[in-house]
Amino acid sequence: MAPVVPGDEKVSETSMALARQAVACRELGSTQYADLLDELVLDTDRGGPIGRLLADRPERPLHSALSLRLLGAVHRIALRGEAPELAARFPSCGGDGSPIPLGDFEDVVHRHRPEIDVELGNQVQTNEVGRSIVPLSFVHWVTTLGVTDLDWIEIGASAGLNLHFEKYGAECESGSLGDPTSTVRFDPSWFVSSPPVVREPATCRRLSGADPFALDVNDSDDSLRLLSFVWPDQIERFERLRAAIGIATASNIELERRSADHFVQERLADDSSLPRVVFHSIVWQYLSSEVRNGVRDALAGATASRDAPVIWLRMEPSGSAADVRVTVYDGGREPAEIGYHGRGFRWL
Ligand SMILES: C[S@@+](CC[C@H](N)C(=O)[O-])C[C@H]1O[C@@H](n2cnc3c(N)ncnc32)[C@H](O)[C@@H]1O
Repeated sequence: MAPVVPGDEKVSETSMALARQAVACRELGSTQYADLLDELVLDTDRGGPIGRLLADRPERPLHSALSLRLLGAVHRIALRGEAPELAARFPSCGGDGSPIPLGDFEDVVHRHRPEIDVELGNQVQTNEVGRSIVPLSFVHWVTTLGVTDLDWIEIGASAGLNLHFEKYGAECESGSLGDPTSTVRFDPSWFVSSPPVVREPATCRRLSGADPFALDVNDSDDSLRLLSFVWPDQIERFERLRAAIGIATASNIELERRSADHFVQERLADDSSLPRVVFHSIVWQYLSSEVRNGVRDALAGATASRDAPVIWLRMEPSGSAADVRVTVYDGGREPAEIGYHGRGFRWL
């Protein structure tokens, strides 16, 4: 491959992608990565080795989140104990949180180059346990529809950590959600306003999930992969993920490597006597229009009744945040659509 020199289109694209990621990391609370990415932008602009490495890749730097693939790969090496100079600084490895010297980062990339080359071709895979706030709240709210038992179906479930939401706990002004003794807990600061809390929330009688790129928490490499994509100075998030992995490895929930459309079609094909919930969080944008239509058709065509409705619960981006929408099918039509906290409730 021809050497890339500063001024090349691919170099400026790489530099721009790194700069954007730096802004995102700063906004989302990772100063350590933001500072490192700022250094990498300067290095790329002067034709340095990391910029060259990224610009030589066939992937588009922004679209493929190449910078996060690289940072995740290096973080993983440090978590394995093979980059002591970075571990001494990454709080996730017990480090002091001080800035990462570019030279140290470059040395690790250089020493582990074959692994880095492979990992730059693999997509970022995250499973955000904080999103369990949605199902934790939902099982309370859904009792207002007279629903007490559920068959829970999650698509784009990643490692399936949010399928364990009933084993997590949250405290809000209206009371406790889930298991208050859990090692995965959310304090009241997670809630701007509280969902309705009832004494007997609905219970999941069956839980299943699917993701074509599902990670297996019982596989130590997969668990490490999940942990490595959490930014190393976001220690609370890191510890929560680690606790959730601990809970998931001790449980047994069905998780299949399948695309959303096929999974929903199959799971909704049987005439269940239980109300069924199809849930997804931050997945819709990753689905092709064919897969999206497959999911919509399966939902609209499922056999549903007042006693056993099919409920579509989604938490997906809306403007600068995400919103939660619930659509209830109780016999082929959608009687209601609602933003989660009750705003926008609309009988159809
Ligand atoms: C941003 S992650 C969100 C994961 C998880 N829902 C969460 O909130 O933590 C997006 C997920 O969509 C999955 N995905 C991509 N294509 C898919 C498909 N055709 N069907 C189902 N899931 C898909 C990815 O593998 C990834 O796990």
